[in-house]
Amino acid sequence: MMLTQEKTLAETVRQDFPILHQEINGQPLVYLDNAATSQKPLAVLNAIQDYYQKYNSNVHRGVHALSAKATDTYEAARVKVAQFINAKSYQEIVYTRNASEAINLVAYSWGLNTLKAGDEIILSVMEHHSNLVPWQMVAQKTGAVIKFVELTETQEFDLEQFKTLLSEQTKLVSLVHISNTLGCINPIEEITQIAHEYGAKVLIDACQSAPHTPLDVQKIDCDWLVASGHKMCAPTGIGFLYGKLEVLEAMPPFFGGGEMIDEVFLDHFTVGALPHKFEAGTPAIGEAIALGAAIDYLMSIGMDKIAAYEHELTAYLYERLREIPELKLYGPLPNANGEGRAALASFSVEGIHANDLSTMLDDGGVAIRSGHHCTQPLHRYLGVNATARASLYFYNTKAEIDVFIVALKDAIAFFKQMMN
Ligand code: ALA
Repeated sequence: MMLTQEKTLAETVRQDFPILHQEINGQPLVYLDNAATSQKPLAVLNAIQDYYQKYNSNVHRGVHALSAKATDTYEAARVKVAQFINAKSYQEIVYTRNASEAINLVAYSWGLNTLKAGDEIILSVMEHHSNLVPWQMVAQKTGAVIKFVELTETQEFDLEQFKTLLSEQTKLVSLVHISNTLGCINPIEEITQIAHEYGAKVLIDACQSAPHTPLDVQKIDCDWLVASGHKMCAPTGIGFLYGKLEVLEAMPPFFGGGEMIDEVFLDHFTVGALPHKFEAGTPAIGEAIALGAAIDYLMSIGMDKIAAYEHELTAYLYERLREIPELKLYGPLPNANGEGRAALASFSVEGIHANDLSTMLDDGGVAIRSGHHCTQPLHRYLGVNATARASLYFYNTKAEIDVFIVALKDAIAFFKQMMN
């Protein structure tokens, strides 16, 4: 009797992603730039097309059938987001264009109105520009002071140093959950608990965790959490801000206009109910509906299953990377099961620019990112101008890792020969 081998998750889902089935430079595409943006399954492409083909209409603004359907589907997607991160209520989910807009919303609405000279904000040196620049802008305007958590020897969040930075002055801890460059997973539950002991609010940037691992905002107990749809199978132009109901209620609106109001008079207005009070103007309706479809898709697979498969990929990726002595890898190593870090690897090779490596890999159909990955201060901290980064998702296979490793070895050999 022939034993049939069980299909891997990637083998089961790859047919759902039409974009993956093409050649680039005459070679099958190997897409390893998922931390920059993920690919979209047919269910998501169909959801946005369906909206425009069958019920395109504005939301919350009409009583006709199309508007009612658009409104219902748009609001149903919000409920899906709430369920995806285990928020208590759909009112705790504010649609934004992306995570950057969500952080800016908190910075302007809460930060500018709450922080005073001498108040302290704690960030880490591994933050993405989106979680640095808005706070720098707020600090400039309010006189608040920003302090930074540095890295341990294994290039992870230094929890002990963090504890020494906290004081009565700490009003905010804003931190990435999984670093897009180091791939380390920060202990956000413990960090949140400690920060709350000092009365500080906590914002979690979940851009690189929401697509890959189950999230439970009630368990984390953070005050805000932000994510971008496009990294979790949804289109660009849609993301969300989660905020505890009482925290969002205490925040004034950030944008003014239609949708966020209750009543408007010539000389004043009254604010609408949550979450609409933060959603001025016609929103990205099709994109929000497609985000709902992306969440349905991810949930139908199961976030636990996605995380487990990505651990397997991580273990294999690092096993293969070990074959290349020229590589300098950043961030912690995974354990033997591939756990303990994200399914991505940032690396550099002495004497070879990351852009050159990436260009050579592209010739072989392999897409990786090179540069500073929107973490310039972290690259400065690490003492490197640029890194190359391969980032995986649940539709990637071990065979693709093999193609990447061969292409990387060839590229390094080519440039080394040029240098000699
Ligand atoms: N932050 C995204 C990345 O890591 C764009 O590539």
